[in-house]
Amino acid sequence: MKSLIIYESVYGNTGKIAFVLRDALLAYGDAIALKPDNLIAEDLKDYDLILAGSPTQKFSMLPSIRAFLAEIPRAGLKGKKVAAFDTRVDVAKINNRFLSLMAKLFGYAAPDIASALRKKGGELLLPAEGFLVEDTEGPLTEGEEERARAWAGSLAQKAGGKT
Ligand SMILES: Cc1cc2nc3c(=O)[nH]c(=O)nc-3n(C[C@H](O)[C@H](O)[C@H](O)COP(=O)(O)O)c2cc1C
Repeated sequence: MKSLIIYESVYGNTGKIAFVLRDALLAYGDAIALKPDNLIAEDLKDYDLILAGSPTQKFSMLPSIRAFLAEIPRAGLKGKKVAAFDTRVDVAKINNRFLSLMAKLFGYAAPDIASALRKKGGELLLPAEGFLVEDTEGPLTEGEEERARAWAGSLAQKAGGKT
């Protein structure tokens, strides 16, 4: 199975998750993590499993990820297994009622990424996943790398990848 992780990262935390996912998926075949700058939509045809992830900023994905997803032709992900992830702060920890309400109303990057991947014909293997950071610049909350590893394993199983 060939896996591609498309990711963007400002402070490095989403990048860390992308590399954990890549390393876990290497047990099932080829896997590579790339930023959208290093990809064109045409490249996607080479992969079986395609993950896309972004830091959540302003309740949404970063513009570079949005632009890349928009570039994928209609039905460009037909026959592809897909999944979406983001990183985000734990609003429960910030203890700010306004921010909690905003997050509840406007959400996070991953569900929007998942719906964009599905709109292009991808088969979503698992619900969009969010990984927590302690603060804007990180670090990742303890246990999140392990959770990412397990998530990648579940995706690979669902995709029918063999170890
Ligand atoms: C301008 C800005 C807006 C942000 N907005 C949100 C937000 O709406 N919700 C959230 O959970 N985290 C928000 N964050 C925190 C980011 O999710 C966090 O910086 C990111 O997960 C770190 O990932 P990275 O190291 O890959 O950039 C924001 C951060 C910045 C810098």
